[in-house]
Amino acid sequence: MLQSLREFGRKKLQNPGNDLRLDMHGHWLPGIDDGAADVSAALGMLASFSELGYIELIATPHIYRDYYPNTEQTIHSSFERIRTEADKFFPHLTLGCAAEYYLDDHFESLLRAKSLLTFQGNHVLVEQGYFAETPGVDKYLFDIQIKGYAPVLAHPERYVFYHQNNKKIAFMRELGIKMQINLLSLTGKYGPVVASKAMEYLEKGWVDFIGTDAHTQEDIQLCREIRLTTKAYDAWLKISGKTTF
Ligand SMILES: [Fe+2]
Repeated sequence: MLQSLREFGRKKLQNPGNDLRLDMHGHWLPGIDDGAADVSAALGMLASFSELGYIELIATPHIYRDYYPNTEQTIHSSFERIRTEADKFFPHLTLGCAAEYYLDDHFESLLRAKSLLTFQGNHVLVEQGYFAETPGVDKYLFDIQIKGYAPVLAHPERYVFYHQNNKKIAFMRELGIKMQINLLSLTGKYGPVVASKAMEYLEKGWVDFIGTDAHTQEDIQLCREIRLTTKAYDAWLKISGKTTF
């Protein structure tokens, strides 16, 4: 009953890739992080992305020295493995790769060397831990800009330390930091609080990118149907280029 009340008046979207077209946050490169384990799992993910209507996919494997010590080389070689296969089965998909950088001193050294993987020009996707704000996060984000990149904060709705702190999100946006929410958040995969924060950011016009952050084929299938409030849907249309700002 509560669920149906909550969904009352919401716009139901099927196959959201038909609107969004581009997914700029996904873990489908085979064998290099906590996403697709092998080429077959990666192809399964690409099949599901295609079913949802996506036409362009940017893989963003983690670069997190303590857990996923990826480099440009590990990412590119995994990308070449899947691209050869993908060209056979999904020639209509445009594929690319960047990374999801954890903000730490390893990231700092990559930034200093100006050696970051980017998407859509100079965008750099960065993440923090979920439970405590990264010390010096403002300085990291500023330094990224100083080096000529455009920082994009991955899934701000998943950081519990921002749930009661909209001011901080607004502050970062004022400084030009772009925000990327997860489609999976809107499905409720991470719980109702994260879902409602994602919806709230959309409604406030604080979202620049909507990515899936899919790690498995099941994740993508969860995104098959999305429900949005009317206000969030207006923002959705703007983000997907269907109306202009
Ligand atoms: Fe991710």
